[in-house]
Amino acid sequence: MRISNNLNRRDFLSVALGAAAASTLPGGGRSLDLAAPSPSVASEIAAVKFPKDFIWGAATASYQIEGAWKEDGKGESIWDRFSHTTGKIRGGDTGDVACDSYHRYNEDIQLAKDLHVQSYRFSIAWPRIQPSGSGAPNPKGMDYYKRLVDTLLEAKIRPLATIYHWDLPQALEDSGGWPNRDTADRFVEYSQIVTRALGDRVSHWCIFNEPWVFTTLGYRLGTHAPGKTDTGDFLRSIHVVNLAQGKAFHAIKAINGKLQLGTAYSMTSAEPASDSPEDRQAAECGHACFNLLFLNTALKGEYPAAFPVTPEVMGVRPGDMELVRAPLDFVGINYYTRGIFSRPEHSISAPLGFERVDGTQGPLTDNGWEVWPDGFYRLVMRITKEYDKPVIEITENGCSYTDAPDVHGRVPDVRKIEFYRGYLTALAHAMRDGANVRGYHAWSLLDNFEWEQGYTQRFGMVYVDYRSQARTVKESGKWYAKLAASGELS
Ligand code: FCB
Repeated sequence: MRISNNLNRRDFLSVALGAAAASTLPGGGRSLDLAAPSPSVASEIAAVKFPKDFIWGAATASYQIEGAWKEDGKGESIWDRFSHTTGKIRGGDTGDVACDSYHRYNEDIQLAKDLHVQSYRFSIAWPRIQPSGSGAPNPKGMDYYKRLVDTLLEAKIRPLATIYHWDLPQALEDSGGWPNRDTADRFVEYSQIVTRALGDRVSHWCIFNEPWVFTTLGYRLGTHAPGKTDTGDFLRSIHVVNLAQGKAFHAIKAINGKLQLGTAYSMTSAEPASDSPEDRQAAECGHACFNLLFLNTALKGEYPAAFPVTPEVMGVRPGDMELVRAPLDFVGINYYTRGIFSRPEHSISAPLGFERVDGTQGPLTDNGWEVWPDGFYRLVMRITKEYDKPVIEITENGCSYTDAPDVHGRVPDVRKIEFYRGYLTALAHAMRDGANVRGYHAWSLLDNFEWEQGYTQRFGMVYVDYRSQARTVKESGKWYAKLAASGELS
């Protein structure tokens, strides 16, 4: 598959969108004034055509879909332990079986093919490869990913492998987890094993998925595995993950310099609650924390200036800020919703310089996230501007609506189609205005285990009946298939 970023892309989009059509887009999208009123992007454009080489993808993650939690020598992960602990997951759900994709990957890749998906983002479960987090690889675990990747390649789908999407081997957590510097070196070793074994057939890799989320929810808020709530651990984990990102980047490049490396960062459009200087400052702190804490270190070798924590408290040692550098080949953006920031008062976020609430002006999805496509536009443009037009892949974007099959066996999830239409229009708009975006991954191919929410949320384009494991392509999936085949959004 040819992946290039060239002027054609922009010219093409501006022709496709047209000046007149663009001017009908509320917010105009040409300004980075974050305080401006930002009604959601209207779907007033008759047709938006994406460039021919734009990559249409879908994303999943190991713990959320695989099941087979103790098969073929797999070790226990922190998510196995967490979900097996009473009271941690809604309804007592676990990922023990999930979508059973470990056994049904052929069917799932066929579904991806039917949806005209050109890139499949999946993650590798570390405890399948190193059951206790170090030492020789488990051949059966590795074989599973080789088979998965070979099946994708046969289907002419690009594999985009995420090395870590949150399922740390429990044994490593028992020795201190991410707050422990040794974990960075264990991670480098594991990254070397998987890239050596799969680098001949997987060219594109995400080192981490959402480092902000797994450090914050895992070590500070305790709502994700391993369920810790220690601020010191949380701050140290940030730095250890940054060290792991930088060291793994260089170790992988030393094995195979051609591999294309990024990380999938969770990002939010950080908007001030008002025009007051305090709220604007809070939004800057929010942007630093939520969006830049792991990106700025990689690309610029510095913690963002607006992050109000001293290096000593994070455990930074002399020489570390060279080690965290990783000139990534692409920036992965996971985008779901925007945050509204105001000056710090007394919540748990106050020491980080802000209070945050989610936006509520737009319609809400079934898990309560606001639909506000213009925030996506603003965020993509802001990263484009602040990092000098990096190559961007949207590594996740999507929504949960709990629509189920009707009496005819169809899943008429029109709200999901509207969501995608709005966000993809916003993305096209950002590309027209100079963002270097080469691909988009819908989260998710399948309904799956949504972390502490268990199976109550349905982000998939394919409905999964968890009792029978039957898969039904939703109307949104059929809509996405047409879009992926034609590149035309209508
Ligand atoms: C992201 C996660 C992904 C999924 C979506 C809904 O934060 O990366 O695994 O849970 O949210």
